[in-house]
Amino acid sequence: MNIDIFTLFPEWFEWFASQRHVSNVVSDGAHLQCVNPRAYTPLSGGQVDDTPFGGGAGMVLRVDVMDNALHQHYGVDPVLLRTRRRVLALAPGGRLLDEALVQELAGEPALTLLCGRYEGFDERILEHFASDTVSIGRYVLSGGELAAMVLCDAILRKLPGALGHEQSASEESFSAALEGNPEYPQYTRPADYRGWRVPEVLLSGHHERIERWRRERSRERGL
Ligand code: 6GU
Repeated sequence: MNIDIFTLFPEWFEWFASQRHVSNVVSDGAHLQCVNPRAYTPLSGGQVDDTPFGGGAGMVLRVDVMDNALHQHYGVDPVLLRTRRRVLALAPGGRLLDEALVQELAGEPALTLLCGRYEGFDERILEHFASDTVSIGRYVLSGGELAAMVLCDAILRKLPGALGHEQSASEESFSAALEGNPEYPQYTRPADYRGWRVPEVLLSGHHERIERWRRERSRERGL
């Protein structure tokens, strides 16, 4: 997996990339790279945004700046680029991220993430350069960076080497093994704490009964 993140705030991702489950998949061959469109702007003073036509508050990321950054970085017209790899623009109005989309994206060899700032993207960026527009929920963040990290986290933990146990991801919430339902409740020691006892079946060592109990609890949570 090769992920390029176009962001005006690449330093935000230094902390993210240093987290164990991320650095694990990176040493296993995944690539995570930030590109700052400001470094490629054809405008003076490092300008990347502008006031919206028609008036209104805030600033809008310019289409010529994004065109230049993508073209310079990949050496191909971004209009063509999006037919060769998924180019995901992160914007609050996009397709809602869910487990199915994460699974789909985790199967891609390469992704490009575009983080908007301020009032967002000039619409022509979404229309002509992005293959998809993705949102992590119906609320507004001050930029796409946190959403990009959410997306990267969800994708990277699907890749081999991210988690201690390969099994951990296959039975987790919303997986096929759980028929798309949330995960069953988990408990660990102590078995009795302030009188709150762990369900007896989990202490029984009876694997079939434990499996059945877990499936039932998971199904209940999915209702
Ligand atoms: Cl992807 N971007 C922004 N700016 N806000 C959001 C979002 C994305 N998803 C939910 N809110």
